[in-house]
Amino acid sequence: HWSAEEKQLITSVWAKLSVEECGAEALARLLIVYPWTQRFFSNFGNLSSPTAIVGNPKVRAHGKKVLTSFGEAIKNLDNLKGTYSKLSELHCDKLHVDPENFRLLGDILVIVLATHLAKDFTPACQATWQKLVGVVAHALAHKYH
Ligand code: HEM
Repeated sequence: HWSAEEKQLITSVWAKLSVEECGAEALARLLIVYPWTQRFFSNFGNLSSPTAIVGNPKVRAHGKKVLTSFGEAIKNLDNLKGTYSKLSELHCDKLHVDPENFRLLGDILVIVLATHLAKDFTPACQATWQKLVGVVAHALAHKYH
């Protein structure tokens, strides 16, 4: 269900972004804008203010890990449920993350991409990435019943 144009828009954005920077920024924004998400990261140390969150090395490292995982999605666009089945189990059975939070993080990622890529993040790119983060959120939520 991905057109050649959509695939091209996804890979061209992916090639331009810094996974480390964008991943760190997206997770930090999630924790700041939706503070209830902090409770899943109580072992990450100081999350007491926006400055603390942005400067927290564990937040940075984990943000990079999460966005790196999007790279797997991009390599497996036609089998996202299979690609994310283990991660879905982890987030559902072990971590008990409410799947609504996957959508929140996806929406924040789109905002971060827009700020980093500026004019290069065309409306067509935005539409395609919005679709991608939605499909990823759906695949991650697959193991919830
Ligand atoms: C762990 C991906 C969203 C909470 C992980 C890991 C990955 C990942 C790759 C590491 C798994 C491992 O170590 O084997 C993703 C992706 C998301 C997402 C692709 C896309 C939407 C979220 C959200 C939350 C969350 C929204 C909570 C609000 C966690 C927690 C861990 C984790 C608590 C374990 C952290 C640790 O202690 O190391 N996630 N995640 N994830 N994720 Fe997610």
